Amino acid sequence: MNKNSVFDCSVIELDKHHHEKGNISIVENGNEVPFDVKRIYYLYDVPGGEDRGAHAHKELRQLIIAASGSFDIILDDGHVKRSITLNRPYMGLLVVPGIWRELINFSSGSICMVLASHKYDEDDYIRDYSEFLKFKTK
Ligand code: TYD
Repeated sequence: MNKNSVFDCSVIELDKHHHEKGNISIVENGNEVPFDVKRIYYLYDVPGGEDRGAHAHKELRQLIIAASGSFDIILDDGHVKRSITLNRPYMGLLVVPGIWRELINFSSGSICMVLASHKYDEDDYIRDYSEFLKFKTK
C-alpha cells in the first residue's frame, strides 16, 4: 500500500442513462468499483471555497464522486502531486491506499459522495504529513 503512486488512482466514467425525467448512474460492487462497498458517506453544506481531507489511508480504497457541483482533489504520493477536478455526477475518482489527498475549491451546494471499501476506522488514517512521508518509505 505504501508504494502506491498517484498514477494508480484513476478517473472512471460511470454509465449514464438518459431519461426525459432526468438521468441515472449506477455503481455496483465488482463492476464499476474494484472492491466491495462497505460504507457510503457524503459531504454536503461545505462552505464555498472550503477545504477537506488532508490525510491518507493505510488500507482504505475509495470511489469519490461529485454527486452535485464540483471540487478539486489534490493527490500526493510523497513524490508526485496530481490535481483532479470532479464536476460531473457520472465521473468517479478511484483512490488507492497510501495517497495523501486534499479536497479543495468546493462549489457552494456541492455534494461529495464517497464509496469506501471498509467501515470507519480511525486507525486507518494518517493525519500527519510527516508521518505519511515516513509511511511511504517503510
Ligand atoms: P474526516 O474523514 O476527517 O473528514 P474529511 O476528510 O472529509 O475532512 O472525518 C471527519 C469526522 O467525521 C471525523 O471526526 C470522523 C468522523 N467520521 C465518522 O465518524 N465516520 C466516517 O465514516 C467518516 C468518513 C468520518
